[in-house]
Amino acid sequence: MMISFLLNGETIRVDTPSATQSLLDFLRDQRHLTGTKEGCNEGDCGACTVIVIDADSVKALNACILFLPQLNGKAVRTVEGVGTGAGLHPIQTAMIDHHASQCGFCTPGFVTSLVAADINKDRDFDTVLAGNLCRCTGYAPIIKAAQTAAQSDTMPEWLATDRQALAAWASDEVALAQPRSIEELATHLEKHPHTQLIAGATDVGLWVTKQMRDLGEVVFLNNVAGMSGITETQTHMRIGAMTTIEDCRLFASHRFPSLEALLRRYASTQIRMAATLGGNIANGSPIGDSPPALIALDAQLELRRGSTTRVIDLKDFFIDYGKQDLHPSEFVTAIFLPKSAPNLRCYKISKRMDQDISAVCGCFNLTIEDGNISNARIAFGGMAGIPTRAHNVEAALMNKPFTIETFKNLRGHWEQDFTPLSDMRASAEYRLRVAENLGLRYVHDLEGTQTQVHEAQVSEVLL
Ligand SMILES: Cc1cc2nc3c(=O)[nH]c(=O)nc-3n(C[C@H](O)[C@H](O)[C@H](O)COP(=O)(O)OP(=O)(O)OC[C@H]3O[C@@H](n4cnc5c(N)ncnc54)[C@H](O)[C@@H]3O)c2cc1C
Ligand code: FES
Ligand code: FES
Repeated sequence: MMISFLLNGETIRVDTPSATQSLLDFLRDQRHLTGTKEGCNEGDCGACTVIVIDADSVKALNACILFLPQLNGKAVRTVEGVGTGAGLHPIQTAMIDHHASQCGFCTPGFVTSLVAADINKDRDFDTVLAGNLCRCTGYAPIIKAAQTAAQSDTMPEWLATDRQALAAWASDEVALAQPRSIEELATHLEKHPHTQLIAGATDVGLWVTKQMRDLGEVVFLNNVAGMSGITETQTHMRIGAMTTIEDCRLFASHRFPSLEALLRRYASTQIRMAATLGGNIANGSPIGDSPPALIALDAQLELRRGSTTRVIDLKDFFIDYGKQDLHPSEFVTAIFLPKSAPNLRCYKISKRMDQDISAVCGCFNLTIEDGNISNARIAFGGMAGIPTRAHNVEAALMNKPFTIETFKNLRGHWEQDFTPLSDMRASAEYRLRVAENLGLRYVHDLEGTQTQVHEAQVSEVLL
């Protein structure tokens, strides 16, 4: 297998790389580009952030959980390659001017994250930098540097030259080990049913870097046409399984603002730009953030096996802990959502605001007619071995007035629905109490009371 990509403007061809060699190892060990640091090696710290460019996007990604074949046909910029003209990028200059670096270990990652954000005109720096950890400088000077650099409105010349170079590559010059269409993928999986699928690699990457697992035969999904993007059908929104969580978040900001707020707290920008919605569902995790929201939205899943396509309710996909309704050779192609759900509210409860896994994720979607509840869909993550609906609670709410009293009277029903575990994230008692309290919060929320708790933004005073 030959893969080709641009690295700081230079064409790199790698013959038969190990399918699971990380970009971080390649940069540091084989190219001696040691500006890209290894901190956690699991997507948590941002020290390894690089910029990955293709015709449609500019992404800040964690090189430690990015496999080389995922870069095929793309351009990479490391901190050594982000300068403009003969000098530094304005972000780098501003970092120096604002004393935004002390030991400097995290600094290359901050620079690359901010350069990518600058190109994307993303000025929400708290969100952009949630995946970059700094232990010594503190964030205020870094954000100040970002704000200063944003005023220069620079578009680095290398962005255009990288894209021109990519466009000039003949498509057959890039020898592929990756299927190009859903049909090709389906045929491949029928012949090789034990192949490990790799979508964004934000789970699978850790199997390699942390568990040292040999994945055996793998197939990369990132070039499969028809699996990415969001389209509107007559009745539904169709989200391709390979659509990234970040693209889902941007889409949700228009139609499902509460889902957008939930996804904003999903990991970090770097992880959201890699992780896919299909991967977040197919991994069957009981604490994945998207499944409870999607179940509350009555989402459906499109699955493909050979030439057969089937559509199932997402709630039925999760059978038991680690067991999904997914046959050998079958894969997720798309997720269908309703076009709107004004009463959807999603609540993520975790120990940290940013970059943390949910202890409990509760999603409520009620229909209220003349003050009474005429339909209820409530789904939780973190309360059982799978993401699941609160059927008893839903039944107890039917035809009742939509009031705090109604939700206060649900005591006992939550216990019938859930017998959560105690683990490092939360105790069983805490989880049950949180679920109950989220019901109360939902009523306050729909009545217009401000229930958001993250007022602790970086304030002007600090800056
Ligand atoms: C630092 C960090 C923070 C994280 N924070 C969060 C968080 O806040 N919330 C959260 O929910 N998750 C979080 N995760 C977990 C992870 O991001 C998700 O589970 C992710 O959505 C997986 O998607 P992926 O595309 O990366 O899947 P991959 O890692 O590529 O694959 C995961 C699994 O899904 C299978 N798969 C992928 N796509 C398909 C498909 N189309 N059909 C069938 N099977 C498929 C793969 O075979 C594999 O078994 C975090 C991960 C990291 C590393
Ligand atoms: S080394 Fe920490 S995110 Fe990659
Ligand atoms: S400057 Fe030392 S970790 Fe950020």
